[in-house]
Amino acid sequence: MTENQKDIVWHHATVTRTRREALNKHKAVNLWFTGLSGSGKSTIAHAVEEHLHMMGCRTFVFDGDNVRHGLCSDLGFSMEDRSENIRRIGEMANLFLQAGVIALTAFISPLEKDRQKIRDVVGGDHFLEIYCACPLAICEQRDVKGLYKKARAGLIKNYTGISSPYETPEYPDLRLESGSESLEECVEKVISLLRDKGIISSLTP
Ligand code: ADX
Repeated sequence: MTENQKDIVWHHATVTRTRREALNKHKAVNLWFTGLSGSGKSTIAHAVEEHLHMMGCRTFVFDGDNVRHGLCSDLGFSMEDRSENIRRIGEMANLFLQAGVIALTAFISPLEKDRQKIRDVVGGDHFLEIYCACPLAICEQRDVKGLYKKARAGLIKNYTGISSPYETPEYPDLRLESGSESLEECVEKVISLLRDKGIISSLTP
């Protein structure tokens, strides 16, 4: 507990997460997409959300580029700032889980220790790490935003995969070969994972 927290008392809601989940007919979970820039995290997260929405699930996608325009607009790309970025997203995802929502988060989240912290905050049963394992060469070839080119030219410092590290998840809950598998295949694998884990078992496709 920090000094700032010592005189703050947690208020317990009567409408609990369990009651919200019962109303929604699915469990709340954080689908944590991690991988290099351009590895397909946001594209896959949004396609999974589309699929889940059509099934009647409550969902929300957070992605790095959007959140960095608002909640995290004060943060850059030093390791400290990335850790703070991930910490805030984890806390926000946790609130969405309390609201009974399936929170899909798409952030590079390059460090294992930061991803592990989120697993601790959210709770292991409610955190599914999905590694978008697209090789750097393919991400760079795609270069949708033109940022790899700038990073290679030295115009962007600390670029993940070029001049800043990315720690590959050792034991992700799901590994997507997002450099070679189709979007549909990736979506299907995520939906199967959710069924296997009993998150959406009471819903029909
Ligand atoms: S994270 O490392 O803190 O998890 P985050 O996912 O929020 O990163 O943001 C990554 C996005 O920011 C990339 O997709 C890219 O568009 C943009 N970006 C700008 N500068 C950098 C950089 N130095 N390294 C990585 N991504 C960057």
